[in-house]
Amino acid sequence: MNSYFPISRINQGKLNIFVDKLRHYYYINETFKQLNIDVLRRFPAELLSINYRLKSEIFPDALIKLFFLGEILSIKILKKIFSSQMITWLINIKLLKQYGQQIKARVMIIPFENYYFTSDFSLRINNNHLVILTKPRHTEPVYPLSKNSVDLWQSLINKSVDTVLDLGTGCGFHAILISSTAKKVTAVDINPRAINFASFNALLNKVKNVTFFKGNLYKPINRDKFDLILANPPYEISLKKRYLYEDGGPLGDKILKEIIEGLPNYLTDRGYCQIVTKIFLSRKVTKKQLSINWLNQAKYKVVFLEFWNSDIYKYAATSSFSFLTNIDEFEKKINQTISNLQKMRINNISYGILTLKKSSYFSFHEKRFIGFLPINSSPAKIIKSFYNNQ
Ligand SMILES: C[S@@+](CC[C@H](N)C(=O)[O-])C[C@H]1O[C@@H](n2cnc3c(N)ncnc32)[C@H](O)[C@@H]1O
Repeated sequence: MNSYFPISRINQGKLNIFVDKLRHYYYINETFKQLNIDVLRRFPAELLSINYRLKSEIFPDALIKLFFLGEILSIKILKKIFSSQMITWLINIKLLKQYGQQIKARVMIIPFENYYFTSDFSLRINNNHLVILTKPRHTEPVYPLSKNSVDLWQSLINKSVDTVLDLGTGCGFHAILISSTAKKVTAVDINPRAINFASFNALLNKVKNVTFFKGNLYKPINRDKFDLILANPPYEISLKKRYLYEDGGPLGDKILKEIIEGLPNYLTDRGYCQIVTKIFLSRKVTKKQLSINWLNQAKYKVVFLEFWNSDIYKYAATSSFSFLTNIDEFEKKINQTISNLQKMRINNISYGILTLKKSSYFSFHEKRFIGFLPINSSPAKIIKSFYNNQ
């Protein structure tokens, strides 16, 4: 079921008709909100219950089953809204796959505001059964739009900049959104399928001013400097290779450190770097000390806005959740995670947005987003206030 879109052969006109149909039949953000479906979290039990609530014969229900839940659908139903030619075309461009008289989506489509983002499914419903998709050999899944992607988006303190670099673009979410306010957007991902999906998503959303490169972080960039460097890098502790989109090395900060090390070469003097990440802390290691370590003597004003923090037990339970295939495996994974964290003496996991800006001296500031906040405060406003009061 692994899709690879034939980008150069995709007809923009037909794609626009497809998107218009999605909108016309209310496959939109608003519908998901009304149905109380959290498009960013996708809890397995919730997906099953949504599938039971929706009816295959009506729209937008059938579209939600097809493109959000991954459920199988009869072609006859789909023909109520798409012509036969359109269905054949969607099969040809690898968006749909036919099984006799039935059809399945090869990719998930998530609506966000007025945009649509395709990515791989990590779970899908198959004839009312929940199927957890494990990583196919030789293929790296494309990370679906998630809560952390949106947390970073809502924390960006300046979206109207000249030049943006999106490191680890995945489905192209930030690059595509910011292209409406930034002049020039460059996006990089090491996973060739991510670049293929992001390029497809740019077409899907009629976005033209983003350049996508396949490569390792700054490698594809020549001498350019950027006003904004943003990243939602892989940041989970990984002792062995698993998923490119989440393997952050033994301390979770391998890619994060490489991004920060590149800032003196790639960030303009007035530019910001904003990264969403988890930080793994032990009694002896503080966030400030970690920042000093990542910066390796470069002088930056660093602000960390924390969204939540957790002890290792809660963290083990919630982070192992995505690997759930059966209860034994779930239990094993929780125990393994706790034991690994204990071995490394980690006692706290903090999640939030790291913002860095060049300065004449190093400083570190921290604030929690949860708690006593004035009404109307957004993460971006809070972070901005640290830099305005310099
Ligand atoms: C957590 S996903 C984030 C995707 C997307 N930016 C978002 O916010 O939804 C991390 C992405 O980083 C990419 N990645 C991992 N290591 C990388 C590297 N060394 N260079 C470039 N991209 C990398 C992965 O392929 C994946 O697409």
